[in-house]
Amino acid sequence: MLITKIYTTDEIDQAAQELRLGELIAFPTETVYGLGADATNEQAVKRVYLAKGRPSDNPLIVTVSSREMVAQYVEELPQRAVKLMDAFWPGPLTMVLKIKPNALSKAVTGGLETAAFRMPQNKATQSLIEKAGVPIVGPSANSSGKPSPTTAQHVYHDLEGRIAGILDDGPTTVGVESTIVDLSTEKATILRPGAVTEEQIAAVLGEEVDSDRHHVSQNEVPKAPGMKYKHYAPDAQVYIVNDDAWDQALAWRAKRPQKVGVMAFDRILQQYGLKNDPDCYSLGADVKSASQKLFAGLRYFDADDKVDAILCAGVAETGLGAAYMNRLKKSAGNTFFENKK
Ligand code: TXA
Ligand code: MG
Repeated sequence: MLITKIYTTDEIDQAAQELRLGELIAFPTETVYGLGADATNEQAVKRVYLAKGRPSDNPLIVTVSSREMVAQYVEELPQRAVKLMDAFWPGPLTMVLKIKPNALSKAVTGGLETAAFRMPQNKATQSLIEKAGVPIVGPSANSSGKPSPTTAQHVYHDLEGRIAGILDDGPTTVGVESTIVDLSTEKATILRPGAVTEEQIAAVLGEEVDSDRHHVSQNEVPKAPGMKYKHYAPDAQVYIVNDDAWDQALAWRAKRPQKVGVMAFDRILQQYGLKNDPDCYSLGADVKSASQKLFAGLRYFDADDKVDAILCAGVAETGLGAAYMNRLKKSAGNTFFENKK
């Protein structure tokens, strides 16, 4: 078993050295913590799948600290990519681009002719990649199937003993993973909603953008392979509660013999006198704070095995709300309180 070291932002040199040696280092970004390995070292990349328990046909994001790093792997940078880089990089936007044949190992691409590139905002991570001198793969640093980690402690909980270290730069600010836009196709297509919205991307590109709402079946080769697997699922059943269903949902909770966790906006906790209830987790004031706190809340209740159900606030699926609801629906298996059996 490895000893997993926590690196502060003053110890980036040491963390970068570990990456160069083929070790795994988790890193902070504005969205969630990623699990880093030298993207040009196939053995190191393979160990990422092992550490996460992730199926190996699911390709990995290539995390870069400059546009030059991307340029190395593609024949040429499409104009659309340059426009989006100008507008949103560094930031929570990942772009899927056609790459040169065999420019990256199959362990990174899952055998696709494309790769997903992302430049995160976090300064410590930019410096980590620069010092490592290579792009690093960056799936979320959780065990496969669990909510993505938004603190170094979440990463430690899931991956302690399986990775060499974690670069700790405090809680992430956005809280849901980056938007993924596929630019390898005729029409730009959103494969995963995130903090950069479909509307923003369409405005910058000056063209219509598709959204892939397709659900991939078990035997199908998926376009964004992550869509195939169960995601963000805590042990307890999650029920989505729309604003007007709290009366009913909290009445059900009060009658239930087992403990039920609640994840709700401050105003709801206030209104129902639940502010000091230890089984209630505040999502703050709005969809921004809710997105930042969603995964941490799901993990909070996962640590408590007496809770066998969680009621969690639904929001309108526009702007950042689309990203929040995408993650919440996956963790709830798409179950709304009003439709539960
Ligand atoms: O915010 C984020 O993107 C975080 C932070 C750590 O950067 N990373 C992240 O990685 O969420 P991951 O591996 O958990 O999700 C990446 C998604 C997966 O669903 C994967 O299938 C998809 O990106 N993906 C990777 N390469 C792809 C490609 N060439 N074409 C389509 N989808 C791809
Ligand atoms: Mg993930």
